[in-house]
Amino acid sequence: MIQPGQIWNDTSGKPIQSHSGGVFFDQGIYYWYGYNWDGPTIPPNTVPQQAFTWFFNRGITIYKSTDLIHWEYASTVLADVSFDPGNLLQPLNGLVRPKIIKNDRTGQYVLMASLIAPDFNFFNDVVVAVSDSPTGPYRLLGKLGWHGKPNETGLWDQTWEAAKNDPPDRIRGFDMGLFKDDDGKAYLIVSRVDAYLYELSDDYLSVIRVQRMEGVEGEAPAPFKAAGTYFIVTSRLTGWAHNRNTYCTASSIRGPWTPRGPFAQGPREETTFDSQVTFVLPVAGKTNAFIFMGDNFHNISDWEIPDLRAATHVWLPIDLDLKNKSMTVPWRERWDLSVFDRGLGPKLSPRQIEVGTKRRPKT
Ligand code: DGJ
Repeated sequence: MIQPGQIWNDTSGKPIQSHSGGVFFDQGIYYWYGYNWDGPTIPPNTVPQQAFTWFFNRGITIYKSTDLIHWEYASTVLADVSFDPGNLLQPLNGLVRPKIIKNDRTGQYVLMASLIAPDFNFFNDVVVAVSDSPTGPYRLLGKLGWHGKPNETGLWDQTWEAAKNDPPDRIRGFDMGLFKDDDGKAYLIVSRVDAYLYELSDDYLSVIRVQRMEGVEGEAPAPFKAAGTYFIVTSRLTGWAHNRNTYCTASSIRGPWTPRGPFAQGPREETTFDSQVTFVLPVAGKTNAFIFMGDNFHNISDWEIPDLRAATHVWLPIDLDLKNKSMTVPWRERWDLSVFDRGLGPKLSPRQIEVGTKRRPKT
């Protein structure tokens, strides 16, 4: 059973360390990857302009599973120990919101992540790495760049003061997601207040064009496509704190996007069950079956996170209404994949609501 908001252990009994990442399915196996936070943290203001608790980069962990319940640790990739400031992977640089997609033309697995320095500016870029195997090792190619010249510049000038000094071709990291469409085209989405859609080159290793995603706003962009409709879930801007996540829909990845409001239903719906979206996972072999994946970062304020090792995972089935092209995510205390075979439309029993209302104390 999947129990949202609980600490989950891997098959060796250790708590799973995989945060703000996602899952991909390849040849019968799910791979779950995310940030490893099993290391020291630095309180806010330890280094200049550092607003948030910061954490040492210990790389991206990858687990594998065939049932989405039992996860076996497979590897840690892109970890480095050298504090040399020129080293993109030095432990003070966070590799947040990593995403992996497979390029069917080249056969390569392409990993992108937001590279963020503690001041949110010195590094605030997207890095790209490749591997011939889903579990790595991944070879860092460097910051994501343009294939040719950017078709738009100054994207973040109005919303991020420091961006006024950006060179025209800088691709900011902020929060990011990746989306691979049915036709094999792939897109990077970078969002903060605004959201931008970066169309990737055929090898997924550079950008060929960018456009604003009219109608989309917020962080942690999590795109998916169901029955021809594009959905994107985003979080509000509260740092690592949970908030009321919302979604937008469109008939084309290029928009226009229609804001559709919140989708969480049940106890703690106002904080998306104390989580922030990271990914929406299509369930392999099932039609229109998607899992909302959120992180409970175990924060005590917008700025402070006492113990990231206690961060948990909030995974819940998405209830799609294909006629209205809408979605809801009702709370469930525990569930398994059989909910998708029962025509979903999950409804909460009074017992589930009562159990779910009891908040776990924050320490
Ligand atoms: C704000 C987000 O809401 C956080 O979860 C995290 O992704 C940071 N951005 C990273 O910069």
